[in-house]
Amino acid sequence: MERIRIRGTHDLRLQGEVRISGSKNAVLPAIAAGLLTNEKLNLTNIPLVKDVFTILTLMKQLGAEYDIEGNSLAVQVRDIASDEAAYELVRAMRASILVLGPLLARYGKAVVALPGGCAIGSRPIDLHINGLQKLGATISLEHGYIQATADKLSGASIEFEKKTVGGTENLLMAASLAAGETVLKNCALEPEITNLCELLVKMGARIDGIGEETVRVIGVRELGGATHEIIPDRIEAGTFLVAGALTRGDILLNHINPAHLQTIIEKLRYSGAIIEPLRGSALRVVGSREIKPQDITTSPYPGFPTDMQAQFMVLMTQALGTSIITETIFDRRFSHVNELLRLGANIEVQGDKATVKGRTPLSGAEVIATDLRASASLILAGLIANGETVINEIEHLDRGYERIEEKLQGIGASIERIRN
Ligand code: UD1
Repeated sequence: MERIRIRGTHDLRLQGEVRISGSKNAVLPAIAAGLLTNEKLNLTNIPLVKDVFTILTLMKQLGAEYDIEGNSLAVQVRDIASDEAAYELVRAMRASILVLGPLLARYGKAVVALPGGCAIGSRPIDLHINGLQKLGATISLEHGYIQATADKLSGASIEFEKKTVGGTENLLMAASLAAGETVLKNCALEPEITNLCELLVKMGARIDGIGEETVRVIGVRELGGATHEIIPDRIEAGTFLVAGALTRGDILLNHINPAHLQTIIEKLRYSGAIIEPLRGSALRVVGSREIKPQDITTSPYPGFPTDMQAQFMVLMTQALGTSIITETIFDRRFSHVNELLRLGANIEVQGDKATVKGRTPLSGAEVIATDLRASASLILAGLIANGETVINEIEHLDRGYERIEEKLQGIGASIERIRN
């Protein structure tokens, strides 16, 4: 069993340079897009995180061959060998659902396990299913599996009832090979979706309105290979920005896209941090001695990301006053709160709101990482908690952060992975 051990201190100042990895949430749909063609996709700037290996295991079962060299991945699905995404893999990573649209579009058939419960609340996939049905798929649920078939998908007009990142991606991929025109309305606007659209266009897709709420896709008969760079991970970048703000640090983040971080930067500046853009793809964060409290409400991009909520909560434990954090995207995404309480934070949860009273000195303790971003928040808290913090069940952390302990060591943190 692996754990993370941190020796923290309230006067830690993180200083130095960090290179941000490629985006986990952008690379997963890009890999799934490999199912849309029998030619090769070359993806660069991929993060070497567990979710990438999980989707590659699934892709291999579906017929893919792949090769990783450094941070580049070549993936090719000459023939579809199986149409089934088994429960074991879908349970390990919900984003496995991203193979549904591409499999249906190229192969006419897909059997994908229903994701079921998840540590961050109920996460239905009804919007993916409704959309694919509008494109002509026949879908039923049997024995815990989505059974989908379609002789040929045909374009349709689909309005998402609610913004969904994965749903938008699944439908974009399916529509790229559907006959005729598909109009997708109320699409999610996350940069990871734009990154996917740019890949699809390189593969030969015809897409209009990239990055907008209404996107038009004219289906093509077939798609081909492409070479494509994955965008930087804005959530990893945001996590390091919070680390700088929290420790009165001075950190230079390289290989990022500041345009994707605007809301996070705004909130951090309001809290007192100085954030300076440097060159095109770097940012410097300098934390301030006094952190100002503020209220935060998560919302779809370009709003404040739910994936940064837990990390921001740690910052607010050190603010001089009370902050209210409202989580509107997922139910029950406050599992980190109980662990932060063990470290000495003063947080009260009522429904979708957490009231964080600062400033509370934190002290090290043993805690459990309950989901991916909760793990990151516990690391941040452990850095400034006096004494030793041990984080258990770090599998979640490895799903989405590439070598986080090494990156933190490089800027002065006392953090290590222990095995026992
Ligand atoms: C993606 C991200 C995840 C992020 C989330 C919200 C990936 C691999 N994961 O997840 O890190 O936290 O966006 O920014 O990119 N919903 C439905 N029906 C559906 C689909 C979604 O009701 O069919 C609801 C969800 O329960 C949730 C909201 O819509 O309340 C947003 O979910 P969605 O954007 O689909 O999240 P994911 O794509 O799963």
